[in-house]
Amino acid sequence: MKSDAPSEQKTIVKVGHIEKRRKKIVVPPQYLKMSDNTHHKLFVEKLKSRPFTPARSPRGAQIHLSLPETSSSAFGRVTPEGDGSFIFPKSVSEIDLWRSGEKTDLLSYASKNSEKKDHLYKILVIGDLGAGKTSIIKRYVHRFFTQHYRATIGVDFALKVLNWDENTLIRLQLWDIAGQERYGNMTRVYYKEAVGAFIVFDVTRVNTFESVAKWKSDLDSKVQLSDGSPIPCVLLANKCDQPKEGLINNSHKMEEYCKENSFTAWFETSAKDNINIDEAAKALVTKILENDTLLNAESSKDEGKFSISKETNAQKNGKMCSC
Ligand code: GTP
Ligand code: MG
Repeated sequence: MKSDAPSEQKTIVKVGHIEKRRKKIVVPPQYLKMSDNTHHKLFVEKLKSRPFTPARSPRGAQIHLSLPETSSSAFGRVTPEGDGSFIFPKSVSEIDLWRSGEKTDLLSYASKNSEKKDHLYKILVIGDLGAGKTSIIKRYVHRFFTQHYRATIGVDFALKVLNWDENTLIRLQLWDIAGQERYGNMTRVYYKEAVGAFIVFDVTRVNTFESVAKWKSDLDSKVQLSDGSPIPCVLLANKCDQPKEGLINNSHKMEEYCKENSFTAWFETSAKDNINIDEAAKALVTKILENDTLLNAESSKDEGKFSISKETNAQKNGKMCSC
């Protein structure tokens, strides 16, 4: 990558980071203090991608920002809300920023593009053999159904793209995990970095409902959100086009069961008759988006705390960062 260094005298600040998933550039508070009463222009000088791990680490890539020494009202303000963040489109990369051949004013770039949000979420679909996981995914993604049963081996994948609203595109990466995997030892690997799940049971076979609690505890013990809380999980009582067996016949008891077992919601579904599948997905995505917003706000706060305490420790130890 070429290094088109800005010609002005400048201070290089290597302290920001970009949260690719959340499309934010976070600028630590002590840096903002430097520019309290002045208007500065920020340039993205270098974007170094790091492997992205959504559930574990909120950070995506390091950025280097350059701050011209001269201030001018022609330059954008460092932060509009004063929270140390810039909204940044996911599609942004160093190449995008430099392609035009001129340095891009981060703030105006951000404001031009901040309307478009793009999310990628990993969603698990788990439950006993033959409960209808693959059929639900096929109905949801490919809009078809077949009576023919072919057991999934290991895991299958499907991608569903949702135009959530005019400013938000959501890609759901659906992991269709074979029912027989509950007896294997791969679920920890499959669950990694998921941000939501469906547990599916078959309303015509009560034993598939009895397994739900086992699937749920397997899930909760092996994957958590970055703040340690369980990932949102929606329970699907599938094949509701057929006569039902067990607790599913009592919706009040089902509500209680879901509360006790921390399900986000439950739905009677039919992959065959296309009942409630879109609705269930909507409920799960709504919860995931809610979590995303909350965790995002938290991590911005934490970043501030982290930066300050880090600086204090460094000062205490007489060590200063050389960046
Ligand atoms: P594994 O891959 O073995 O874990 O099973 P699965 O959960 O993916 O089940 P699958 O979707 O393959 O469905 C099993 C059988 O149930 C198939 O014969 C489907 O046609 C049937 N089935 C799935 N959903 C429904 C439904 O909503 N209603 C009815 N009547 N049959 C369904
Ligand atoms: Mg299957």
